Amino acid sequence: MAEFDVIVIGGGPGGYVCAIRCAQLGLKTACVEGRESLGGTCLNVGCIPSKALLNATHHLHETHENFEKMGLMGAKVKVDWAKMQAYKGDVISGNTKGIEFLFKKNKVTWLKGWGSIPAAGQVKVGDEVHSAKAIVIATGSEPASLPGIEIDEETVVTSTGALALPKIPKSMVVIGAGVIGLEMGSVYARLGTQVTVVEYLDAITPGMDGEVAKSFQRILSKQGLKFVLGAAVQGVDKAKGKNTVRYKLRKDDTEAYLEAEVVLVATGRKPYTAGLGLEAAGVEILPRGQVKTDAHWQTSVPGIYAIGDAITGPMLAHKAEDEGMAVAEVIAGKHGHVNYDVIPGVIYTTPEVASVGKTEEVLKQEGRAYKVGKFSFMGNGRAKAVFQGEGFVKLIADKETDRILGCHIIGPAAGDLIHEVCVAMEFGASAQDLALTCHAHPTYSEAVREAALACGDGAIHA
Ligand code: NAI
Repeated sequence: MAEFDVIVIGGGPGGYVCAIRCAQLGLKTACVEGRESLGGTCLNVGCIPSKALLNATHHLHETHENFEKMGLMGAKVKVDWAKMQAYKGDVISGNTKGIEFLFKKNKVTWLKGWGSIPAAGQVKVGDEVHSAKAIVIATGSEPASLPGIEIDEETVVTSTGALALPKIPKSMVVIGAGVIGLEMGSVYARLGTQVTVVEYLDAITPGMDGEVAKSFQRILSKQGLKFVLGAAVQGVDKAKGKNTVRYKLRKDDTEAYLEAEVVLVATGRKPYTAGLGLEAAGVEILPRGQVKTDAHWQTSVPGIYAIGDAITGPMLAHKAEDEGMAVAEVIAGKHGHVNYDVIPGVIYTTPEVASVGKTEEVLKQEGRAYKVGKFSFMGNGRAKAVFQGEGFVKLIADKETDRILGCHIIGPAAGDLIHEVCVAMEFGASAQDLALTCHAHPTYSEAVREAALACGDGAIHA
């Protein structure tokens, strides 16, 4: 039995970041992880592998759509699916080994195996029980399926199966027009698969700015994705060689179906806490399965903390990382803080979609007075040079004080552009502050500045 100051259960972005920060703060730290490699869902079967496939298929799409326009003739690119999968594998292992290196560098002990909490202050891994002054639950989440759907990870798959299909399917039905559905749907549409996305709500990407969602759907449709909106999926019938997705249109209850070689179920994720023994340890669980925590990420049991997808809030790797760092500070007797009002969200399609802060829809509900500055990438020389003039930046500021309340971007490198606004929001900046900041020309970032100018006396290139 080994004694630690902190044992973190789970080696994903929340857990490994927490463990490294604990060690940096002088705490004797272990991290329990049962997978063969560190990095959790994000590095092994989520954010990172999907970005590899998005990158490869984006370039494929470019050769088809834009190469000849630039005078690059005769690029008849063929897809070697096995090689693309191997590239994805290299990207994963490069990243997961990097975390192993960081653990060694920071003297974090990797306890290999699945952990449980037999009692407060104890973590069991395999047959060994270790003691810890503080335990952090960072066990993440797992896909949430629907009744009537049996996932086999072969032809009816979650994101995990979709990342590793044995061959490129001819047709795919994606259930759920959220982040996973649209990222993976884009990958396969670019590879030539006929992709149909079936979504319960009347718009794609729930919670996103309405104008961005509309524009995003139009652009994805042009890229070949088909959409059936307002449709509640009832079940999937499996037969050899094809699956039938049954759905009901919400407006009139008519039933319809779609056939496809592969069905991707992307209807959300749920906290993963099975096998931890939380109930026996007295850790309170909320009705929707999340571990209940206080403002300092402590659960109902003193000395047991929880972060990331296992607790409330958006299921995002960077939110988990921030909580991991903050709870490490708390455990070390310092002050940890996460600003939940400034957590960006990004969809890594082409164009990218990014957002931070409030949407117009939410501000209307709240009855707040706001103003909007919008700027189209059509007025941005750099974006036009790379055929990405579609899309826009929409900056929202308080009508009276001009303080930035939110930003919603669809366009090139939106996932990077958004951080300028995040920093501005962290400093309580006004739209005018952004507008008065010199932005290099020609960059995509100029579109953010123009949107800020549009909140005041007007954009220049609109
Ligand atoms: P999601 O919550 O983003 O989207 C699920 C969609 O499924 C919703 O639009 C919902 O209305 C729809 N839906 C639910 N039941 C349905 C039914 N019966 N019929 C038709 N549609 C139905 O969930 P998703 O895409 O599975 O992602 C899971 C989590 O992973 C999310 O929290 C997401 O933020 C995170 N994630 C983040 C990524 C990123 O930051 N780029 C990438 C991938 C995942």
